[in-house]
Amino acid sequence: MLELVVNGTPHAIDVAPDTPLLWVVRDHLGLTGTKFACGMGLCGACTMIVGGSALRTCVLPASAAVGQAVTTIEGLPAHPVKDAWIAEQVPQCGYCQPGQIMATVAFLETNPNPTEQDIREGVTNLCRCGTYDRIRKAILRAAQARAAASASKVEP
Ligand code: FES
Ligand code: FES
Repeated sequence: MLELVVNGTPHAIDVAPDTPLLWVVRDHLGLTGTKFACGMGLCGACTMIVGGSALRTCVLPASAAVGQAVTTIEGLPAHPVKDAWIAEQVPQCGYCQPGQIMATVAFLETNPNPTEQDIREGVTNLCRCGTYDRIRKAILRAAQARAAASASKVEP
């Protein structure tokens, strides 16, 4: 029995510990927003935030997430990254986008004021529709929104 906390909710799940976290979340918890594509840790479609890091969960044993907060796209609250994705109309087919968004949320936590080059190096998820230009614009927009929000918090 694995005990996982996903989107703030604790679960006890009867599953082999080496089952990839992606399949535990999709098949046992019914959270299907996170997608499967390559299955080899290469594309990022399966990205969740685990213990604060964006991880590719098709190759992550569920046992590695025990004791860590797991956040999926369903658990992401109202967020500047979501707003920026809408403003820039990023998705085309949409399949890769949950992973792109989760990778971006974690990226901006460690790199809140990125350059375009930082983004190219830091968010490496693949998009078969080629939405990369819009993704980069959305990440820059989200970074600006986060900076503006934190600046307004420190205003007297
Ligand atoms: S499906 Fe996990 S990295 Fe591609
Ligand atoms: S929007 Fe279609 S794969 Fe990225």
